[in-house]
Amino acid sequence: MLISLAAHAEKVGYRGDVLYFTADPASHPEAVHNYQDGLLIIDMGKVVAAGDYETLKTKYDVKEIVDYRGRIITPGFIDTHVHYPQISMTGSYGEQLIGCLNDYTFPTEEKFSDKQYDSHVSDTFLKQLIDNGTTTALVFATSNPVSVDALFQSALQKNMRVISGKVLMDRNAPAPLLDTPETAYSQSKALILKWQHKGRLDYAVTPRFAPTSTDAELAIAGKLLKEFPDVYLHTHLAENNQEVAWVKKLFPWSRSYLDVYDHYGLVTAKSIFAHAIHLDDQDYAVAEAKQANFSFCPTSNLFLGSGLFNLDKARKYHINVGLGTDIGAGTTFSLLQVMDEAYKVTQLRKAYSENPQEVTPLSPMENLYLATLGGAKALSLDKYIGSFENGKEADFVVLNPASTELLKMRTANSKNTADVIFPIEIMGDDRTVEHTYIMGNKAK
Ligand code: GUN
Ligand code: ZN
Repeated sequence: MLISLAAHAEKVGYRGDVLYFTADPASHPEAVHNYQDGLLIIDMGKVVAAGDYETLKTKYDVKEIVDYRGRIITPGFIDTHVHYPQISMTGSYGEQLIGCLNDYTFPTEEKFSDKQYDSHVSDTFLKQLIDNGTTTALVFATSNPVSVDALFQSALQKNMRVISGKVLMDRNAPAPLLDTPETAYSQSKALILKWQHKGRLDYAVTPRFAPTSTDAELAIAGKLLKEFPDVYLHTHLAENNQEVAWVKKLFPWSRSYLDVYDHYGLVTAKSIFAHAIHLDDQDYAVAEAKQANFSFCPTSNLFLGSGLFNLDKARKYHINVGLGTDIGAGTTFSLLQVMDEAYKVTQLRKAYSENPQEVTPLSPMENLYLATLGGAKALSLDKYIGSFENGKEADFVVLNPASTELLKMRTANSKNTADVIFPIEIMGDDRTVEHTYIMGNKAK
């Protein structure tokens, strides 16, 4: 329903249950901003204000008000680790990490050398993100620069915030996927010059993981970070025990897996490490000192039997954490479903803890924080996205608590927003995401 208020103003208001965070609610309960009859006001793709409907409707000259009462309006979800070329291998049976890479991942990624094919998959991928309420993503492409061009081109057309880069790998993978330290450097540099900061895009230097890069290539990754200090570093870290043992064998001089990356200058405030499960206290301390960031990928970690991410440890060491789908080892594009499994991982951690009374299952608000502002902080993008503070980019979603029969019955008696948002996280999916807005434009 549209209520026209003034003909000349450009501001549009969205009325509903407005919910966002200005800090981690686990340590800052006052950082939860919730207006049950709220209004989010947007102008020129940016947030003007968010607050109580009654207060804001008279304060601002709003051209129209879109009525989303009965829905939750919250910032767009942020996927901090996903592989766009792996869509077609999602849900492949029976392997753990190394077997999965050899049997499914590498053959799937070998198909990416044709612009038309890559563009088709990129478009499909971005549509999946939007359908699931994801407005920003940190994305693995393949080692072929064509795959990066295709994704960035598609993202530019949709005006989406996408961070990606060419995968670096010069050993332990099939020959067609391998580069050399020289081509890793020249191709990455050309892509950075072509795409970095174009529209809403950013570049990430992307060594696949330590086992598929030689020392010479990891040194090249470090050289690229020095030459282009505002690009990201995106890789995998300590996902699986067999992988950790392999890294020890390949880099016998290293103290730990993270130490390999640190040795080459790859642990910085713009580094995002996917998984980060099998770490010791010194690793957490190094990550904290370097302000590195972790991507928690529960659907993937459970699917591959990799392990249980330790959110308490990450909190203790003040490490920024975002959520990642990790498609195609992860099993869904839906960050709501990722939140479901994130919660269950913390329940399992509690069950197996020596001091279960000290472990609190992930709260509904903190879970949503991880998918929004937490992800934005992990990607150093919290100046632009992740909340509804004035001037931020208007990426947001409209969630319908009555989107399925089960949710409708469960939320009918909910007394507060936390008790509406929790079942949405546990039982919601793409059907729950009624609308997705990108820079104020309705994309779903
Ligand atoms: N480690 C190195 N490459 C990959 C990948 O493609 N997926 C996952 N889950 N882990 C990895
Ligand atoms: Zn991954």
